[in-house]
Amino acid sequence: MGLTRLAVLVSGSGTNLQALIDSAERGENPAGRIALVASSAPDAYGLERARAARIPVLALDKKALGSQGFEARLLQALLEQEIDLLVLAGFLHILSRDFIARLQVPIINIHPALLPAFGGRGFYGLKVHQAVLAAGVPFTGATVHYVNEIPDGGQILLQKQVPVLPGDTPELLQQRVMEQAEWLLLPQAVARLCTELQRQKEASLDAPS
Ligand code: GAR
Repeated sequence: MGLTRLAVLVSGSGTNLQALIDSAERGENPAGRIALVASSAPDAYGLERARAARIPVLALDKKALGSQGFEARLLQALLEQEIDLLVLAGFLHILSRDFIARLQVPIINIHPALLPAFGGRGFYGLKVHQAVLAAGVPFTGATVHYVNEIPDGGQILLQKQVPVLPGDTPELLQQRVMEQAEWLLLPQAVARLCTELQRQKEASLDAPS
């Protein structure tokens, strides 16, 4: 059947990973399967979520390994596991141009703002929401986009707007953006891509040699 094998990369809490797990359990991604969850920190809570869902994990320590060592170990695991799609779900680092080129499968990321606003180097996690509040804009949201060599610069797949409300703190805004945008958008984008990639896989298997 050529199911799309996806790997999810996390750095911390992993609520977006949980949204993907829950969506898969509801049967919303019939074309894909989470084959691996990898982390950049060995104590990332996202790993616990993966273990609870009986998904194989790869706990890496980016601080100890350094960026190159981390990417080398990650790349090796993704190639060994024949991953078709890499999903950055709360991954708070930037992947190198070399890693992206060598992996040769699509990589997507969820970003907690309406790109191209509040994106790029230095905009991650709560810092994004702090910047949104400091700018005084009435709306923010979330974006799922392809990852290329430009941080937060790849083609946009899906976006959803969320209001900024009076009295918001970065934490309140982060929670609203997650609940109203991220946890819906990421499973939608992943299911859509898995279907597309499964079609491509089946077409290539059917093609005469
Ligand atoms: C999420 O808001 C995600 O969009 C953001 O970090 C948070 C991680 O939460 N990612 C970035 O800022 C990437 N530039 P989670 O670990 O609970 O999914």
